[in-house]
Amino acid sequence: MPIDLRSDTVTLPTPAMRQAMANAEVGDDVYGEDPTVNRLEELSAKMLGKDAGLFVSSGTMGNLASLLAHCGRGQEAILGDQSHIYVYENGAASALGGIVYLPVRTEVDGTLALEALEGAVHSPAHNYHMFHYAPPGVICLENTHNRCGGVVLTPEYFAEVAAIAARHGLPVHLDGARLFNAAVALGRPVTDWTRHVTSIQLCLSKGLGAPVGSVIVGPKEFMWRARRMRKILGGGMRQAGIIAAGGLFALTQMVDRLREDHANAQILAQGLASFPGVSLDPPRVETNIVVFNVGSAEGAEALAGALEREGVLVSNFGGGRLRLVTHFGISAEDCHRAVDTIRKVRQPV
Ligand SMILES: Cc1ncc(COP(=O)(O)O)c(C=O)c1O
Repeated sequence: MPIDLRSDTVTLPTPAMRQAMANAEVGDDVYGEDPTVNRLEELSAKMLGKDAGLFVSSGTMGNLASLLAHCGRGQEAILGDQSHIYVYENGAASALGGIVYLPVRTEVDGTLALEALEGAVHSPAHNYHMFHYAPPGVICLENTHNRCGGVVLTPEYFAEVAAIAARHGLPVHLDGARLFNAAVALGRPVTDWTRHVTSIQLCLSKGLGAPVGSVIVGPKEFMWRARRMRKILGGGMRQAGIIAAGGLFALTQMVDRLREDHANAQILAQGLASFPGVSLDPPRVETNIVVFNVGSAEGAEALAGALEREGVLVSNFGGGRLRLVTHFGISAEDCHRAVDTIRKVRQPV
């Protein structure tokens, strides 16, 4: 078995999770009659401090249904230029919903500078000649931030963004694919963040280890629109309790163990930091993502290829950067072995 560090979505469910899935009580979720899906939606809303929840097939669908529920055609979604929604989700809200992406520079710490964010809002409060601009519909944040190396944005920053949103009457959507990693890293409850945003997309896959699925949570009225959007996207699933049971297990059993992934990421980070010609990027690893730079795109490609031949899988992040992600099924010993393998195969280009 290779040591697969490409992503945190590649784990197999634990035997206990599989058992829970096999035993799941099911019904027709399109009629709202799958008891396991209903339990998952209620629990996720409760844990994240919102009115209601919705089970969706993926993080991408969760973000898309949320954006479609927040914005009409021709409205702007203000988001980071390094955000997952902007970079990796195929311009979906634009392609399918006529939503205009308004990217703001993502800072190295995963934030959008507050002045830049406020300046990007085309609202009457700014005395713009309003008729020239697409009206704003939503502000999007991401936490932890994937392309910034798993950094944690703080609840205090969220409060500042919420104040800007409130000044302009805008909702805030959080791509919280890895929100529990942020909570575990800072030792704070997820509600410290979620109270400042309107809607959240949370991945049950990734670090929480479910094989499939995400949830969206938010206020009642928004959730009704999101449910309609899920249906439009073909995301109304029938006896989805089988996979929702994996999600329930993830939320109830898998949150605390994220700290193991963070500790294992430190093994990788410390090993890599000792190699000449390698820089961690960002230098401080805060959660389960380790990004390092080997100085050139060719060097990164060659290293990824050599590692693959030795049974260590990593992802190429572009610009000479490689990404390693720790997750359930990756042990401390695997991380030591991965560091040893990198030492062995690394050849300066
Ligand atoms: C920050 C972030 N948001 C959303 C997603 C999308 O999740 P999915 O792969 O389930 O569509 C990812 C996936 O890696 C992610 O890293």
